[in-house]
Amino acid sequence: MSSSSLYRVLFVCLGNICRSPAAEIIFNAVAKKAGVSGCVCADSCGTASYHTGSRPDSRMLAALERAGYSYGGHRARTFRRADFSDFDLIIPQDHANEEDILYLSRSAEDAAKVRGMWNWFSPSESEHEVPDPYYGGPAGFDAVVALLARAMENLLRDARLPFNRDRQ
Ligand code: 4NP
Repeated sequence: MSSSSLYRVLFVCLGNICRSPAAEIIFNAVAKKAGVSGCVCADSCGTASYHTGSRPDSRMLAALERAGYSYGGHRARTFRRADFSDFDLIIPQDHANEEDILYLSRSAEDAAKVRGMWNWFSPSESEHEVPDPYYGGPAGFDAVVALLARAMENLLRDARLPFNRDRQ
């Protein structure tokens, strides 16, 4: 399959060192398990630039490792307007990230690509966004990884997404 037919997903949080790199790693693992890794690809970034170039937070890497996921080498980068052209689906982790991205959108077409991670939460979830674990303890990081893993199963089965339609 040529790279132009890849469906491109961008996960966005504030610093790109905790939630969105975790989402990228978990998405890639679930996509591989679902057999769609040849038709999707994922990246992540932050709305703020203060961690640009950094590895994910060591506490998030530890939580990912505890859950059986491995880090692929991502370094933090900042969201840029060109991302609206470069990606098919842009997934903010919380409502503040969503507002910051929509503020940068140039058209209704750009804005239509932005859909919060909570759109793939099961109705039984008590969370309405992916909580920021940065100022808390290890349990918060484990909870984010578990929440993202559950949501990602729903995303990778969402019949509205073309890579899922193609294999049905
Ligand atoms: P993230 O978490 O947005 O999930 O990467 C944060 C990372 C850094 C900061 C806040 C949240 N910070 O204030 O530096």
